[in-house]
Amino acid sequence: MQIRHASIFLAVFILLTANLQADEKFITVNYPPDRSVREFFNAGISISIPLQSVDKINVKAENRVEGDIIPDSNTECFSVPLIYGINKIEITAFNKNRRVDQVVLNIFRRSDIESAYNKPPSEFEKTMFHLTNNAKCAQCHIMNPGQNDKKPITISSFSDLSDKENEKTIKPNSTCFPCHKSITSHQYVHGPASVWSCLSCHDPDSAPKYNVKQPRSEVCFGCHTEQAAEWKNKKYIHGPVNIGKCEICHSPHSAPNPYNLMKPTWDLCTSCHNDKKSGRHVLGGMFFKEGHPTKGKPDPIRKGKELSCASCHNPHASDYPNLWALEAEGPFELCLKCHKYYYK
Ligand code: HEC
Ligand code: HEC
Ligand code: HEC
Ligand code: HEC
Ligand code: HEC
Ligand code: HEC
Ligand code: HEC
Ligand code: HEC
Repeated sequence: MQIRHASIFLAVFILLTANLQADEKFITVNYPPDRSVREFFNAGISISIPLQSVDKINVKAENRVEGDIIPDSNTECFSVPLIYGINKIEITAFNKNRRVDQVVLNIFRRSDIESAYNKPPSEFEKTMFHLTNNAKCAQCHIMNPGQNDKKPITISSFSDLSDKENEKTIKPNSTCFPCHKSITSHQYVHGPASVWSCLSCHDPDSAPKYNVKQPRSEVCFGCHTEQAAEWKNKKYIHGPVNIGKCEICHSPHSAPNPYNLMKPTWDLCTSCHNDKKSGRHVLGGMFFKEGHPTKGKPDPIRKGKELSCASCHNPHASDYPNLWALEAEGPFELCLKCHKYYYK
């Protein structure tokens, strides 16, 4: 009897203390708020923990990424790569291998080219970090831009600036680098971003802070003067270029595809022109049931490149209907550019 009593008492006691532990909050998320919206590939996260009661933090983004952080300070910062749509990020704190707290952050990555993700669900909101009170961050980070964040860059000056020796010193010199280093982590990095000339596009004196002027194309054309001169005089301008949204297709920072494209060309085009995937439109159903190939073959004109939508259409502008590339004035002339042999 006595023993049973004691064990019940013990069990109740353990349950009570376990409950107490679970209610205690060890993780404070400094940024971002739950249900934020992002546009690009990564989210920066900053949390605070009491160092004496947390000796390990596990960060997990569903089945995609997972890693441990051994904290050496009361504030820990990291960044998580994002997929389109809702990213559920679990941050779990441990003390001597016992789980002591968990926070779940939901971040929505929005996209102009993925129709399913054009609009975040209603409970999600786009937040602005640089408008919030950042006194806590200022303990360790420099919160105001410095001289080095706006290096004057032009297309022709770029080759001098981007040499390897320079790049090493340029990165630590940027006040943006410590917090935004993952923004240039993809293989193809855009010129000004690669040398951390962030203020070439982001105006620190604008409201909201670091806003990029609209239309975006004017910002781009500020440096890409050759394209500006060429495209502005064309008869036909592609929809998304016409509304000035170059960043729909090109990351201004870095991307896993050539020309800093948000997706490989064929995937990019078919995200909006889903009905052209079959290539049936090329032949207008005249010759074959199955369509003309639009990928997976070498491009006969652009040596070394794969056939894609851009083999026949200029992604930006053209003097010819249907944005024909290759200076083709009509469909038949277009065919002849690649199929000389059949008709000669
Ligand atoms: C106790 C010091 C400290 C405080 C306070 C602090 N940070 Fe950090 N943070 C760091 C250090 C150190 C790094 C790593 C820098 C590096 O690797 O160059 C870092 C890196 C970052 C990164 C990049 C993480 C990555 O891996 O890509 C972000 C984002 C960040 N901090 C945001 C913040 C924000 C937002 C705040 C304020 C809410 C903040 N930090 C407060 C020390 C701090
Ligand atoms: C203390 C860390 C920190 C520093 C320093 C910092 N940023 Fe940020 N910034 C962030 C975080 C966190 C976000 C939220 C978006 C994200 O997760 O990338 C952000 C967002 C932004 C945004 C999106 C708009 C907004 O306010 O949310 C821009 C643009 C930006 N930063 C530019 C810059 C530039 C340019 C610099 C350097 C002059 C800089 N940042 C320095 C942490 C920092
Ligand atoms: C060529 C112009 C250009 C340069 C250079 C540039 N950015 Fe941007 N950045 C943009 C544009 C355009 C956007 C999209 C803004 C929007 O949609 O509101 C953007 C958005 C951002 C965002 C918001 C990301 C999100 O997920 O919403 C951050 C953070 C940012 N830039 C940081 C930086 C940093 C840090 C640098 C320096 C390495 C930099 N940018 C250099 C043009 C540029
Ligand atoms: C501050 C000047 C500057 C601005 C503003 C700028 N760019 Fe660039 N861009 C460059 C430089 C420099 C290069 C690298 C050229 C090189 O590699 O020789 C480059 C390269 C590129 C490339 C790759 C070209 C190639 O042939 O590989 C693309 C695509 C591009 N930029 C698009 C954009 C878009 C879209 C914008 C607007 C959001 C923009 N740029 C704004 C300076 C700029
Ligand atoms: C609909 C998607 C799309 C939009 C919008 C777009 N581009 Fe491009 N851009 C591409 C593709 C695809 C390529 C690569 C074409 C190829 O494979 O030859 C490219 C290539 C480029 C290049 C390098 C080759 C060249 O033609 O000089 C530059 C520079 C460039 N784009 C700048 C811009 C600027 C500036 C804007 C906005 C005015 C813009 N782009 C808007 C899809 C786009
Ligand atoms: C963000 C969505 C989007 C992307 C990505 C996109 N387009 Fe378009 N495209 C449009 C819109 C919008 C129009 C204009 C439709 C209209 O006027 O009926 C258009 C029109 C066209 C036209 C017809 C132009 C004409 O004169 O009738 C062609 C050809 C075309 N796009 C090719 C491409 C190619 C090639 C790519 C990839 C490099 C691409 N598009 C990527 C949205 C997109
Ligand atoms: C081999 C050349 C070729 C390739 C590759 C090609 N197209 Fe076309 N495209 C054409 C021709 C020819 C037409 C005109 C068809 C017509 O007038 O009926 C056209 C017309 C279009 C139009 C405008 C007419 C309409 O029906 O809206 C769009 C948009 C378009 N193509 C998008 C694409 C996309 C996206 C891809 C890549 C998946 C692609 N094209 C690949 C040759 C090509
Ligand atoms: C940018 C180059 C390009 C253009 C422009 C082009 N084609 Fe093709 N076409 C190809 C390639 C590449 C193949 C695949 C050849 C192979 O299978 O090796 C192909 C295949 C074909 C085939 C299948 C028979 C064969 O030779 O394999 C026909 C038919 C055809 N094209 C007709 C047309 C017609 C009609 C047009 C104009 C509306 C046209 N093509 C425009 C590149 C082009």
